Amino acid sequence: MQIDIQNLDSPLFIAWHITNRCNLECIHCLWKSSPTGAFPGELTKEEAINFAKVLVDHSVPYVAISGGEPLLHPAFWEVAEIIRSHDVELKIETNGQLISKSVAKRLAELDLRSIQISVDGYTPETYTKMRPGASFEKTINAIKYLIEEGANVEIVFVPAKFNIHEAEKLIDFAAELGVKVFETGKTMYLGRAVDYWDIIGLTDEEYEEYKKMLERKAKQYEGKMRVLYYPFDIIEEMQVMYRHPPASPLVLAHGKVKLIGSIPYVVADIRKHSFEEMWERYKKGWKHPKVAEWVESVKSNPKLLAKANDLVELDLS
Ligand SMILES: C[S@@+](CC[C@H](N)C(=O)[O-])C[C@H]1O[C@@H](n2cnc3c(N)ncnc32)[C@H](O)[C@@H]1O
Repeated sequence: MQIDIQNLDSPLFIAWHITNRCNLECIHCLWKSSPTGAFPGELTKEEAINFAKVLVDHSVPYVAISGGEPLLHPAFWEVAEIIRSHDVELKIETNGQLISKSVAKRLAELDLRSIQISVDGYTPETYTKMRPGASFEKTINAIKYLIEEGANVEIVFVPAKFNIHEAEKLIDFAAELGVKVFETGKTMYLGRAVDYWDIIGLTDEEYEEYKKMLERKAKQYEGKMRVLYYPFDIIEEMQVMYRHPPASPLVLAHGKVKLIGSIPYVVADIRKHSFEEMWERYKKGWKHPKVAEWVESVKSNPKLLAKANDLVELDLS
């Protein structure tokens, strides 16, 4: 059943990019996050806590917190606790580098819908090619600690020319560890991935082979671990979403609100607009002719996506 967002009084999901600062500088990062990569004017601790309260006051059913590295945000724990103490479902997307045994325990106590850990290789060499300076061991330990504490762990694997041959072994390892979902899809031509596309971008044939392997693994682990392949590339996703807009504003670290990551337009600012205004502007944004124009232009010129992170205010007056 398709939902028409124009009939909804409030979003069903908030994707919250809580900070653009990261302890890593991954070569594929769609946001170009880095240790010095915080957006100018990111929400302060107090502002982030207030926004979490706004979300629960408006009974948003589901929130996903990502970044950058969300655990680096000074309000991370307060925000997560506010959200969970009101029974709002919460997913955390993290690289796992900061998850010690005690952090895993605290995260598990939040009873998250899921915690998504990025693992882009089965060997430390391959993993660190995507994530220079990261520790593969720390990430795997984070997964083990979280599972020991009873958390629902998902792995996301982003394919590239240099790691795709390790995906199958990683799937087997994930199942052994007790991971609930192994998720993957086509790598997005966005952010830093654009600069490294020659060593990242796979051909259609390579994706077809990859999909066949995933289908086989999905059958093998049926009932134990879900092996999921997101069916759309970034342009197909944009077209589908344009036709059927999701009820899920993307809130960036400095409070600007976008429709989705692959469309550059900013439709609201949580510092300037109330939650109700933000939602109305989001709905209106999807109908704006410039959005239609962007979706059409990208279809004929995919390289335009390199500009998707140039935040452009949409005139919604
Ligand atoms: C942007 S990261 C932020 C959370 C955290 N720092 C991490 O590394 O998981 C969220 C997810 O997006 C994925 N990602 C980053 N760039 C991507 C791209 N160009 N295409 C597809 N997925 C990407 C990451 O691998 C990660 O699984």
